[in-house]
Amino acid sequence: MEEQVFTMPRIGEKAPEFKAVTTQGEINFPSDYKGSWVIFFSHPADFTPVCTSEFMTFATMEKAFNDANCKLLGLSVDGLYSHIAWLRTIKDKIKYKKMKNVEVTFPLIEDISMDISKRFGMIMPGESNTKAVRAVFVIDPKGIIRAIIYYPLSLGRNFDELYRVVIALQTADTFDVATPADWRPGDDVIVPTAGSCGTAKERMEQKDDIRCYDWFFCTKKIDKSTIFKKILKK
Ligand code: BEZ
Repeated sequence: MEEQVFTMPRIGEKAPEFKAVTTQGEINFPSDYKGSWVIFFSHPADFTPVCTSEFMTFATMEKAFNDANCKLLGLSVDGLYSHIAWLRTIKDKIKYKKMKNVEVTFPLIEDISMDISKRFGMIMPGESNTKAVRAVFVIDPKGIIRAIIYYPLSLGRNFDELYRVVIALQTADTFDVATPADWRPGDDVIVPTAGSCGTAKERMEQKDDIRCYDWFFCTKKIDKSTIFKKILKK
């Protein structure tokens, strides 16, 4: 039989469509997620320690993501009953850091066939043929992939960073700005680079709300409260 060739989806492309069985019932992606941001992420295996620490952390932060109009959607190549048993164990037995009785209420996809994980480039044979790596796809309300982050099996993700990515992308879209290194809501944002000599000159002479380090590198302030008022769900 001819081997199917998969290319990894890229930033700026539509996320592949799929139908899946999850711990919260069947889902159709992207139609069930219309109008929402989505973090679609994979983990290597149920009943493993790094993944358990990740799920407890992500579930604890779910409300913050939901408030930012962002839904969480997990996947591994384990089966549904393994997922259910693992999530029950997390809730009933695991106390980790200050987290206990953690209920994972976002859907976790079973992908025994590896069909979905292969289409999203989550299987990296150099790392494992039988497990998905820790992939993260940040997908916008139009179904476009806006950020892709990959971690190897041994490295647990930083969920504050994933939240920062969602808020930064929403801020960029809402206010037509970019966000500099290590940006957090409330820090100065970058205004679009001057596209003409006239604008470059004006920018350098401007004294009000724009601060220029040079003509191509100008920032302005947007208060944290202004950002959250615009992007958080009421
Ligand atoms: C873990 O989650 O602990 C893990 C999973 C697969 C390989 C290595 C570690």
